Amino acid sequence: MVATEGNKLRVGVVGAGSISGLHLEAYRQCPDAEIAAICDQNKERAEAAASKYGAERAYADYRELLRDPSIDAVSICTWNDSHAEISIAALEAGKHVLCEKPMCRTVEDAERVQEAVRRSGKVLQVGFVRRYAGSVDVLKRFIDAGELGEIYYAKASCLRRLGNPGGWFSDASRSGGGPLIDLGVHIIDLCWYLMGRPKLVSVTGNTYRKLGNRAHIQNLSFYKAADYDASRNDVEDAANAVIRFENGASLMVDVSFTLHAAKDELYIKLFGDKGGAEVEPALVILSEKHDTIVNATPQIDHASFDANEAFGREIAHFVNSCLGRCETLSPVEDGLEVTRMLSAVYESAGLGKEIRFN
Ligand SMILES: NC(=O)c1ccc[n+]([C@@H]2O[C@H](COP(=O)([O-])OP(=O)(O)OC[C@H]3O[C@@H](n4cnc5c(N)ncnc54)[C@H](O)[C@@H]3O)[C@@H](O)[C@H]2O)c1
Repeated sequence: MVATEGNKLRVGVVGAGSISGLHLEAYRQCPDAEIAAICDQNKERAEAAASKYGAERAYADYRELLRDPSIDAVSICTWNDSHAEISIAALEAGKHVLCEKPMCRTVEDAERVQEAVRRSGKVLQVGFVRRYAGSVDVLKRFIDAGELGEIYYAKASCLRRLGNPGGWFSDASRSGGGPLIDLGVHIIDLCWYLMGRPKLVSVTGNTYRKLGNRAHIQNLSFYKAADYDASRNDVEDAANAVIRFENGASLMVDVSFTLHAAKDELYIKLFGDKGGAEVEPALVILSEKHDTIVNATPQIDHASFDANEAFGREIAHFVNSCLGRCETLSPVEDGLEVTRMLSAVYESAGLGKEIRFN
């Protein structure tokens, strides 16, 4: 039975590692949702999360969770290599799906997921959590009101000088790639979304494997996967790309897990013919008024990305979409288009030439 107005949406969470905590916390705080079950191939991890969040059941095999007819929706928080398989199985079992980014490792998988969404008629929300940040919601209102005019250029950078998380993240067979698919996915998606999702024309990319994972570095801590293991690393250290769109707009990005940089850096900038904006490191909206340049700083609770706020909003939106109250803001079609961009960066880097889409 699918939850209707007045009923709580019964949710299962598959994958009980690092990011699942933000999903579970947000479901716990959502008055319209109830955490019914948790699954992890590491059964102890599933059981620990089930007891912490009051879920009735813990499973080691996601197929068992999907067989429970009382579950309406699932969050998929597993390694990237299982996102397509679990999404399709969940949709075929009649569940709505919130799938963590990246939606898939390949365009073929993304197309299969899209087919499954269309066949099932269920909601699939891609975990493009940055779209749901409060600061982005504010900026979107300025953009939709035409205050930036035509956005013809965007530039985004997410550089870690020391931050290869190891484990599955640095095993290409499980992750599909390094910082491009892990970090680049967020900033490419956010820029493309705020630019009005223009049609893709071409991609030129470069990837580098020069520094390795730098697991030997001492006296400086960095983010590590739940099952950290530095022995395998076959993903890029860094990547950059220029993406062109049909309306003439362009997007420039660079990302890294490791780089000889003075410090970590995150910025996201949009340039329009009437105004501009910086989303990160903090929201500021730029314009001209009375022959004067004005940098306007919206007074909001979180001027830069706040994970608790953004995941809370993302999950509330997913729950509302499942209950038929709204359309998801990050549908499967967008997951497919972003997968095309990411795959084209790797393809362009491999071939040493531009990839064209027309
Ligand atoms: N939205 C964000 O900002 C954000 C941040 C971090 C991670 N993520 C994404 O979330 C996902 C998980 O990342 P993480 O950092 O939590 O990793 P993690 O390694 O900490 O946790 C993943 C968990 O999934 C389990 N798992 C893997 N495959 C499984 C399967 N087939 N069935 C059941 N359990 C399985 C593992 O045992 C592990 O406990 C990745 O896709 C990652 O890209 C998103």
